[in-house]
Formats: sequence, C-alpha cells, structure tokens
Amino acid sequence: MLGLKTATNDEWIAVAAQNLDQILIDHAHCEKKAAANGMAMISRYPDREMLVRAMIELIKEETEHFEFIYEEIRRRDLTLTRDRGDRYVQELSKHINKNEPLRMLDFLLTAALIEARSCERFSLLSKCDDVPADLRKLYHDLMASEAGHYRAFTDIAREFFPKEQVKARLEELLDIEAEIVRGLPNEATMHG
Ligand SMILES: [Fe+2]
Ligand SMILES: [Fe+2]
Repeated sequence: MLGLKTATNDEWIAVAAQNLDQILIDHAHCEKKAAANGMAMISRYPDREMLVRAMIELIKEETEHFEFIYEEIRRRDLTLTRDRGDRYVQELSKHINKNEPLRMLDFLLTAALIEARSCERFSLLSKCDDVPADLRKLYHDLMASEAGHYRAFTDIAREFFPKEQVKARLEELLDIEAEIVRGLPNEATMHG
C-alpha cells in the first residue's frame, strides 16, 4: 500500500483486535501528534506558502480525527491516559537529516510514510471481523483521509525539491521504514 515495502504481520492485527481500548488511546495520541506536527512544520517553514496552506488543512482534519477517537474513548467510558510514546516514529525520526535543505525533505517524507503506515493499519482494522462494525466504518473513513495526507506531504516535497531527488530519498526511507516495521514487537499500539 502506497509503496510500503513490507506488510504488517498477522500477529499485530490479532493483538490490536483483542486490545481495542488500548489501541484507541494510543490512536488518539497519534492524531493529536499529527495535528501538532502540522503546526511544527508551519513554525519551521513559515515562508513556504504551499506548505503552510496544506498544513492548515491537515491540522483541521487531524484535529477532527482526534475528536472522533476521543468521543469513541468516552463512549466506552475510558479515560485518555498519558501518551506512552511511539517507538516506530522515534526510530524513523532518527533518520531525518540534521542539515537543511535535506532536513525539510526528510521531515516531509517521514511524515508521508507515517501517514502511509497508519493508512495500512486502518485498512487492516476496517477489514477485521473481530472489530465492531461502527469502529470498522470509522477506520475505513480515516484510511481515505490518511492516504490524502500521504499525497499532501509528497506533493509538498515535489513542489520544493527536484522530482528525481524526492523519488530517490523516498526509496531509501521506504527501505528504512520496512526494516523498522519488521523489528517491532506487535504491541497494542497503532504503530506497535
Ligand atoms: Fe489522522
Ligand atoms: Fe494524517
């Protein structure tokens, strides 16, 4: 899906479906962090109009996703506990170049990959028989939105960097992402 080089293994979906309460809490934090990352990108690159406009739209959508998931958490009488961190994102972020302009390209492409992986996991959850029908519908709707965010980040990258450079770096990061995913322990988190 969206160029990802390794598929999520069956064990993760089994663990996720058995621990939906934990998945929802971790997922709420993912949506909150996606919105926060949109703001951070505006802070880093305020003079890039195309980026700023795309991030304004993204922040609105991610905040709405956070609201959907928060409401689902409360509907189940759960409490949103503190964020326990996201090892997948932490590992991927280690590969962001420290120097501009490559840092900007890497911020955009790692964000695109996080969207792509989230999209793949929503797809798995939306098709899983052990997930309640109303949640499956929500995951299906989110899947389409996150695919749009993948395209938004890659479009921004192609606006400000040569297409061949974007393609080459995306290939490198896709390999790195696949390696990280293969090493994850299949925990009850959205990227676990
Ligand atoms: Fe989202
Ligand atoms: Fe997103």
